[in-house]
Amino acid sequence: MADIAVLGHGVVGSGVLEVLRTHVDSITRRAKEEIHVKYILDLREFPDLPYANSFTKDFNVILKDADVKIVVECMGGLEPAFTFAKQCLSNGKSVVTSNKELVAAKGAELLALAQRNNLNFLFEASVGGGIPIIRPISQCLAANEVGEIAGILNGTTNFILTKMIREQMGFEEALKMAQELGYAERDPSADVEGADACRKICILASLAFGTHVYPENVHTEGITKITLGDVAYAGAWGGVIKLIGQVSMLESGKIAILVAPMFIHRDSQLANVDDVFNGILVRGDATGDVVFYGKGAGKLPTASAVVADVIDCVKHFKARKYLFWEDAKPDYVEPFEKIPGDFFVHIQSGENSAEAFAQAEELFPGASRIIRKEEVPGEAGFCVNGITPEALEERLRSLEQKGVALLNRIKISDF
Ligand code: HSE
Repeated sequence: MADIAVLGHGVVGSGVLEVLRTHVDSITRRAKEEIHVKYILDLREFPDLPYANSFTKDFNVILKDADVKIVVECMGGLEPAFTFAKQCLSNGKSVVTSNKELVAAKGAELLALAQRNNLNFLFEASVGGGIPIIRPISQCLAANEVGEIAGILNGTTNFILTKMIREQMGFEEALKMAQELGYAERDPSADVEGADACRKICILASLAFGTHVYPENVHTEGITKITLGDVAYAGAWGGVIKLIGQVSMLESGKIAILVAPMFIHRDSQLANVDDVFNGILVRGDATGDVVFYGKGAGKLPTASAVVADVIDCVKHFKARKYLFWEDAKPDYVEPFEKIPGDFFVHIQSGENSAEAFAQAEELFPGASRIIRKEEVPGEAGFCVNGITPEALEERLRSLEQKGVALLNRIKISDF
């Protein structure tokens, strides 16, 4: 029998308990021994649960129990999760976590600690929830050089954008609906401002390229400024707006990494990833594009990935798993402002759209205008190709000095 402890009895922690209880036979068969939850750490009381006697409020009880060889961290947030994970890995206990904040901020340190102590630190659930992505990148695609990863990594924002695209619902209304349906947190800022997707693309970048990428070094934009007008222009251009996390390896050996709403073409594999679903495209040199699709969040999908890691740990008590990456290298991330790309620009000036575009054309010769149905008088949308964000911003400032209002600028994807 393998004794484990679960830290946190929230959505994911209670899901882990549920999956372990409802799938006991198949899990025992696969792990080759029974998995027994000896402790659950939570400060709250759950007297009516059948496993109420397993609760403790004292982490040290778990830490000191030598029988517990695997600790499942489902508390979320950086602290005390980081301190607890470090203490476990320093005291002979492998750690399984669903905590993207922890892995994005402390992955290199915890992986190194696990390696020194011949233990496992596994986090399959931290990026795709129920979508397998950590093992596929580190094992199944290991023969490839991965050149690029692009993904819709946040279900809340994908739900909101889908409502905006399909039903012309405004951002605020769609957010409210997401909250009512339980798809968005009461404080949705990490989702709508892109921080959640940023943590996930940083974990994938670290894994794919072997060097830790910290979220604070990544250009991050959310979807709060996206309007129905932008959505209509994307449609007229031939695509949709999605919040994309993207990382690519540059010829210089540096990486380009960002999170931003992007115009993506209707033919892209990610264009039809809608509602709360996530999609992740991994571009390998031998495989070409491989796409992963499914529910990136939720109690049971996430718990399923956590329990799979626990089974893996039980089967590998004496052997370390494959996961490892180095700590960050200075200047490893090419600044977003220096990387040329294509952009959509949305402006407003006076009452005549053709004249508004003509003003823009003086600064952006060769810009291609997009005309959408029911264009607001004086509004214009156009695409600028092959420009660095810093040059774009400089010219947009000049445009504003000419009295043109800048409504938005949105990156156009290259996949
Ligand atoms: N709020 C996140 C999402 C949960 O919407 O994808 C999973 O990280």
